[in-house]
Amino acid sequence: MSLLLSLVALLVSLLLFVARRRHGYWQRRGIPHDVPHPLYGNIKDWPKKRHIAKIFRDYYLKYKGSDYPFAGFFFFFTRTAVITNLELVKRVLIKDFNHFENRGVFYNEIDDPLSATVFSIEGQKWRHLRHKLTPTFTSGKMKNMFPIVVKVGEEMEKIFSGKTTSGQGQVLEIVDLVARYTADVIGNCAFGLNCNSLNNPRADFVTIGKRAITDRRYGGMLDFFLFGFPKLSRRLRLKLNVQEVEDFYTKIVRDTIDYRLKTKEKRHDFMDSLIEMYQKEQAGNSEDGLTFNELLAQAFIFFVAGFETSSTTMGFALYELARNQDVQDRLREEITNVLGKHNNEFTYEGIKEMKYLEQVVMETLRKYPVLAHLTRMTETDFSPEDSKYFIAKGTIVVIPALGIHYDSEIYPEPEKFKPERFTEEAIAARPACTWLPFGEGPRNCIGLRFGLMQTCVGLAYLIRGYKFSVAPETQIPMKVVVKSILLSAENGILLRVEKLSK
Ligand code: HEM
Repeated sequence: MSLLLSLVALLVSLLLFVARRRHGYWQRRGIPHDVPHPLYGNIKDWPKKRHIAKIFRDYYLKYKGSDYPFAGFFFFFTRTAVITNLELVKRVLIKDFNHFENRGVFYNEIDDPLSATVFSIEGQKWRHLRHKLTPTFTSGKMKNMFPIVVKVGEEMEKIFSGKTTSGQGQVLEIVDLVARYTADVIGNCAFGLNCNSLNNPRADFVTIGKRAITDRRYGGMLDFFLFGFPKLSRRLRLKLNVQEVEDFYTKIVRDTIDYRLKTKEKRHDFMDSLIEMYQKEQAGNSEDGLTFNELLAQAFIFFVAGFETSSTTMGFALYELARNQDVQDRLREEITNVLGKHNNEFTYEGIKEMKYLEQVVMETLRKYPVLAHLTRMTETDFSPEDSKYFIAKGTIVVIPALGIHYDSEIYPEPEKFKPERFTEEAIAARPACTWLPFGEGPRNCIGLRFGLMQTCVGLAYLIRGYKFSVAPETQIPMKVVVKSILLSAENGILLRVEKLSK
C-alpha cells in the first residue's frame, strides 16, 4: 500500500514538474506574458466569465508597444504567441505564410469524415484541396448563384411583412429571422435543398445544422483533449461530430448527388461544382477530383461556416442601424436610388453599386468580427534575422483581430459606428492587415464574396421596406455569449420593426 502511495506521489510530482516547466517557457525566454494558472494557463476566464476573443483583445491592448512583437500565452498547456505588432501579423498571414500554413485544429479524415474540411486539414492536402475549390468561389460563380439569393430574400421579406405593420411597428427578435434566411440560402447553394426554414423554423436541416455547431461527440468532456492535442486525438481515433449529424448530412448529400446525376439538373450552385469534381474522381482523375467523403466534408463546412457567420453579421448591422438612424436613412436612400436605376429589381450589378451598403457591412464587421481571433500553427521554427521574432515549431500563433479592430491608434473612437471609415481613401490610408473579419493571405475565408453578397442582399431587402429602431426591450450595451467561439448576442437582438409605406 505504502509503495502504491509513493508511486502515486511520485507520478503527481513528476506531472507537476512537467507542467511547471512547460508553463515556465515564456519566462525563460524573457517574453512578456501574464503568469499562467497551474491548470488553465491564461484561459481561466473562458468559457464562463469572458469571451475568448475579448481575452485576446485585452492581451493585445496590454502588450502592444512592448519591446517584443508578441506576448506569451498558454491555452491550458499549449504554448501560444499572441501577436501585438502589425508587421508580424503581415508576416504570419502573408509574407512568411509557408511557416504558418495550418491552424493546428482537430480533424480525423478516416473515422470522422465530416471533420476533414478545408478549414481543418493540413499541409499538401490542404493546398491541393484549396486549389481545387477556389474556382467554386469566383465572381462568375457568385453571379450564377445571385438569383437563388434574391429568391430567398423575397421570401424573408414576406415573413417580415406578415409580422409587422406600419405606424408603431412590432418588437421582433431579428437574429432568428435572419438566420432562417441565411440557412435557406446556404441550404439551397451548398446542398441544393429548398429547406424552407423561413416558413418552418424547426426544419431538420436547421436544427441539425445548429447541433453540428454546438454538439460534441463526447458531450464536451474531451474538448480539452481534442483541442489541446489534436494529433494524439487523431491517433487515438477520436471523433468530433455526433453520429446523428454525420448520418443526416451523409444521406442528404448522397440523395442530392444521385438525384442530380439522374435528372442531369444544373443549378449552378456550390453542389454543382462539387459534383463536377466528384465525377472527375469517378472517371479516374484524382488529381482534380473529389471522393464522396471529401465532397461531403466540404458541403458541410460551407454550410457551417457560411450560415451563422452571415446571419450574426446581419443582426449586428441591424442593431447598429437601429441605434444610428442617420446612417439608416442614408442607406435607405442609396438602396432606393440604385434599385430605381435597375427597374426596381435586385441585380448583381445593382448590389455592387451600393457602396454605402458595403461600408456599413465593413464597419459592422470591424466592430463585430464574427470569428474574432485567427489562429495558425508554426510548422517549422520561425527564426528571422531579428531573434526577438523567433517562434518555435509547434507554437500556436493567435492574431487578435478584435484587439486590432478596437485599437484607437488605428480606429479612433473604436466604440463608435462610423461607416465612413471604409471609404476607398480611408482604407488606403491605413496599414495592411488592420481589417481582418475574413482573415488574410492564402488561408483567408474562401467564402468572403458569397458571405458579403448574401449579407448585402438581405440587408438591402430589409432596409428598403422596414424601419428598425431601438425598443425598451433592446439590450444596450449588448451582451455576447461568452462560451461560444463565434461572437453572438446573448438572447438574440430585439428591435422595433416598422413597415414603410411603398
Ligand atoms: C460574413 C460571413 C463570413 C465571415 C465573417 C467569415 C469569416 C471567416 C474567417 C475569419 C475565416 C478564417 C480566416 C483565416 O484564418 O485567415 C474563415 C475561413 C473560412 N470560411 Fe468564412 N466567413 C464568412 C462566410 C463564409 C461562407 C459564406 C463560406 C462558404 C460558403 C465560408 C467558408 C469558409 C471556409 C471553407 C474557411 C476555411 C478556409 C481555409 O482554411 O482554406 N465562410 N471565414
